[in-house]
Amino acid sequence: MIYLDNAATSWPKPEAVYQTMDTFLREKGANPGRSGHDMAVAAEKVMEETRVLLARLLNAADEKDIIFTLNCTDSLNLALKGLLKPGDHVITSSISHNSLTRPLRKLEHGGVKVTRLPPCSEEGFVSPADIEQAIEPNTRLIAVTHASNVSGVIQPVAEFGEVAKRHDIVLLVDAAQTAGALPIDVQAANIDLLAVTGHKGLLGPTGTGGLYISKRVELGTLKEGGTGTVSESEEQPSGRPHMYESGTPNTVGIAGLGAGLRYLMSRTLADIQMHKQTLVDRLLDGLAAIAGITVYGPRDRTRRLSVVPFNIEGWSPDEVGAVLDQAFDIKVRTGLHCAPAAHKVLGTYPHGTVRVSVGCFNTLAEIDFLLEALAKIAGAEPATLAAGEIR
Ligand code: ALA
Repeated sequence: MIYLDNAATSWPKPEAVYQTMDTFLREKGANPGRSGHDMAVAAEKVMEETRVLLARLLNAADEKDIIFTLNCTDSLNLALKGLLKPGDHVITSSISHNSLTRPLRKLEHGGVKVTRLPPCSEEGFVSPADIEQAIEPNTRLIAVTHASNVSGVIQPVAEFGEVAKRHDIVLLVDAAQTAGALPIDVQAANIDLLAVTGHKGLLGPTGTGGLYISKRVELGTLKEGGTGTVSESEEQPSGRPHMYESGTPNTVGIAGLGAGLRYLMSRTLADIQMHKQTLVDRLLDGLAAIAGITVYGPRDRTRRLSVVPFNIEGWSPDEVGAVLDQAFDIKVRTGLHCAPAAHKVLGTYPHGTVRVSVGCFNTLAEIDFLLEALAKIAGAEPATLAAGEIR
């Protein structure tokens, strides 16, 4: 089996993630911060160690500014709904993932004004100058996706940060695809709010995520309840991070996320980035050599993530995905990838694309096997050949 759907979730996880979660549940699976016994203290220590690792990865000055969430969507909802009030103005890109688009639509129905900027190029880049021009007196937030899960295009977020800083506007970055894939320095890039998920580039399990909240920003809470702190009060406590983390957390998941982060940091992000770039280079070169295949996304390979969308002439993306799965045991994502406007920019709406997304455990041999399979599919007729016959 060959897994090439790492933009949806990375798989497999480092061995230490499986082992850490198993050991955690067996030996430390108490409720952190709620009791004083040694198991509860051990569980809390694991959580706080993970928080420190995540803060270090993002260069957050204070780990208390890292809030644990369930995933990137959860983080984005907290960022947007905790910040924006009716009458506020937001600038965003028209090609965002639904995790940004849909909460913004809902806020718009409640009186928040949203400007959706189209990209300034067919490759999907958003222009910092366009953002600056769209600023209004009531602009509270610039909300952008760091890199597209559809085309892989990497946006110049540090330049967006300069605009935001110059105009004293909050910058929110959706780093679902980039945390663990690209270096991120929230201080250097003037990022006030950064949403990450734990189960993609950070190599942790599903059900984990985080939101970095700079000291410059005060967010309202979206949920209130038990935090294990200030238990005598019926009011939600105000200290970070606990004010945003009501309810028993996903401790076993956070333990696994910590193991993923340790793996990432010990192998180094730069090494993983280089490995994935080697695979993507081989894939792009191989795809260019197969007649009938159209690849989408930025031509400049240094400005795209390890996400490669393409189509095969005469085949729907779903047909290609089904043959890859059933005849070759290769897992990719097909169709629309939860970001319909991004497909419109690429010209792949409404059928979408076949999307290959490589991870840190994929190999050149797997890419070569995929290319052989795609060459066979491109040379065959979808209407006349069953999956088994292509193989
Ligand atoms: N947003 C994830 C993807 O791109 C799930 O597949």
